[in-house]
Amino acid sequence: MDVVVLLGAPGSGKGTAAARVVQKLGLTPIASGDMLRDAVARQTAAGIEASRYMNSGELVPDALIGRMISDLIEAGSDQARYLLDGFPRTVPQMGILDAILADCGGVLKAAVVIEVADAVVTARLAGRQVCPACKAVYHVATLPPKRAGVCDACAAALVQRTDDLPETIAQRLAVYHRQTEGVIDAYAARGVLKRVDGVGGVDAVAERMTQALK
Ligand code: AP5
Repeated sequence: MDVVVLLGAPGSGKGTAAARVVQKLGLTPIASGDMLRDAVARQTAAGIEASRYMNSGELVPDALIGRMISDLIEAGSDQARYLLDGFPRTVPQMGILDAILADCGGVLKAAVVIEVADAVVTARLAGRQVCPACKAVYHVATLPPKRAGVCDACAAALVQRTDDLPETIAQRLAVYHRQTEGVIDAYAARGVLKRVDGVGGVDAVAERMTQALK
């Protein structure tokens, strides 16, 4: 089993780029935020615990997200190739991933970080709209749906994420700088880090990511 880790600030475009490259690169995406939002929507015990951290822009406890990722990977095939969007994002979570890979003979192929300045990601998050049904992601200015407020793919009404409010965005960015930049440094020290410039159109960023992972 192979794993590629996808890192970047909130709103750097991880999910948008991932959606455009996974098929081409033969990767199966696992997005930790989507997993958690699904658990919250289903009101599982993990979801109920996670929601108070997510709503305040904090990371959920390492053990909680570690268990969810571990269950998912261990239930998958030995031949799987995963793109982990948003995990690990603390140094202890790196250790959890190392242990999962050691247990199942998996290999970390690369860690990619999408680099975008804070001012840019703040504008991206403030204008983001998401489809609650099929999870498609739009932006009111840079990636608008064909009909305002309606998903192109499944016609559901688009919504704003509850953690895309200005004060929560600022907190998520502070948490990113405090807790996730150490992960980037550690993967750089291991020699597996690839940096992708996240400024430019979505197709240009996706192409840079594809080239970085070839
Ligand atoms: P999560 O859902 O992972 O949120 P995030 O990391 O904050 O990232 P986002 O999903 O907000 O942004 P993105 O980088 O995917 O950007 P997107 O492509 O949507 O996590 C949510 C919460 O769950 C966390 O705060 C935490 O509480 C918890 N959590 C998750 N994982 C965890 C973990 N491992 N440990 C602990 N807690 C965890 O793009 C953003 C916008 O920009 C969109 O509108 C898009 O259309 C637009 N856009 C994208 N690319 C471009 C471009 N190139 N040009 C112009 N606009 C663009």
